[in-house]
Amino acid sequence: MKLMIINGPNLNLLGKREPEVYGSTTFADYFKELQQKFPQAELHYFQSNIEGELIDKIQEVGFDYDGIVLNAAAYTHTSVGIGDAIKAVTTPVVEVHISNTHKREEFRHFSYISPVAKGVILGFGLQSYDLAIQSFLG
Ligand code: DQA
Repeated sequence: MKLMIINGPNLNLLGKREPEVYGSTTFADYFKELQQKFPQAELHYFQSNIEGELIDKIQEVGFDYDGIVLNAAAYTHTSVGIGDAIKAVTTPVVEVHISNTHKREEFRHFSYISPVAKGVILGFGLQSYDLAIQSFLG
């Protein structure tokens, strides 16, 4: 089972970015934990602050991998292009968010990803990624 985790803008700062919202663990450390926790999965990870690079990665893996776990971060609420890329590929995408975006500002309530995602997991901190991986492993 080949899975790609894709993180969008500012998620490279996890650990030091608003720790009261996003926690104090870096994604690099958390990714190591995930690899230990799910040895049956081949996990890959990509992060970019650039919308087009996220689209390129979705296109690159989206006909080959078994699943994509996508936290498009702020682009969730703005990107028609990422939504279209998800529609274009055959690999199912699970949308994740660390925070419960529905408890936050109004502009975070809308997602271009949700209507084209297989499912959505949000609000469980970094555990949202665990749950998304588990959803692919069954
Ligand atoms: C986020 C929520 C988004 O609204 C925000 O722009 C992020 C992170 C989350 O994981 O909670 O950067 O996707």
